[in-house]
Amino acid sequence: MTTPRRTAWIIGGGSGIGAAAARKLAQAGWHVAISGRRREMLEAVASANPRIQPYPLDVTDTVAIQRVLRQIVLDQGAIDLFIYGAGAWSPMDIGDYEFSAFETVINTNLLGLVRVLNPLVKQMESQPAGGEIAIIASLVGYFGLPRAAAYNASKAALISLAQTMRTELAPRNIAVRVVNPGFYKSELTARNDFPMPLLLETDAAADRMLAGLFGSKRFEVAFPRRITFVMKLIRLLPYPLFFALTRLMMPKDPAQK
Ligand SMILES: NC(=O)c1ccc[n+]([C@@H]2O[C@H](COP(=O)([O-])OP(=O)(O)OC[C@H]3O[C@@H](n4cnc5c(N)ncnc54)[C@H](OP(=O)(O)O)[C@@H]3O)[C@@H](O)[C@H]2O)c1
Repeated sequence: MTTPRRTAWIIGGGSGIGAAAARKLAQAGWHVAISGRRREMLEAVASANPRIQPYPLDVTDTVAIQRVLRQIVLDQGAIDLFIYGAGAWSPMDIGDYEFSAFETVINTNLLGLVRVLNPLVKQMESQPAGGEIAIIASLVGYFGLPRAAAYNASKAALISLAQTMRTELAPRNIAVRVVNPGFYKSELTARNDFPMPLLLETDAAADRMLAGLFGSKRFEVAFPRRITFVMKLIRLLPYPLFFALTRLMMPKDPAQK
């Protein structure tokens, strides 16, 4: 008996959790298409395993997304698993809601996914076995925190979008999952100038994501467990208590950004 060919497409596959997941899936026998803007990063990841193929794209470019999706289907035959891990983040100044900062973050984190969705759903519903869509959001998408206005808003929107898609796409044989990691080491978190509790190694984060995706059919894959528990408790707090807590995250000196 032969194992059926399985193909994953990971956007954000040139670095961080996406690259680690690509390597692990390829080792497990998957064919993996990886996308991101930096071709050299994609090629470096692909050089580790002939089952990984680079498909460079920018998620702000709708035409490029459609072209790459068609090419992947031509080359690989199907997209069984899609992981959306393109992400933009940088800490914002307190009280600064500059449009261009929001534009970059929302355009990458949220609208980049939306650009993929219609052609991807059309492709997956045409496949006899359907497909699976895993959207990497974040535990910080549970609520708004100081200095992360655009990023947290984008991740909250991703969680909400995934909830809608889960219900709407189940009858079309497409399973939608949301991945909510805590902190792990990556290019994104290397920019952080604040303490990151229970910071995971990138590889460990990819292991937990894949264990969650393959070990159950649950909607949410969240880790590490301790931070997830605390974040879920904070999410349940009445607003006066919630804001008392988030005020503690503000700088003591009002002149400080
Ligand atoms: N690290 C954490 O602690 C943490 C926690 C929770 C959630 N997350 C989320 O996990 C996901 C992966 O991030 P990471 O932490 O692993 O960091 P990362 O290595 O920086 O991954 C982000 C990826 O997004 C790609 N990307 C950014 N802008 C893009 C664009 N316009 N078009 C195509 N690709 C683009 C980047 O590739 P190019 O630059 O080559 O395009 C990169 O491969 C992100 O959604 C992030 O928000 C991370």
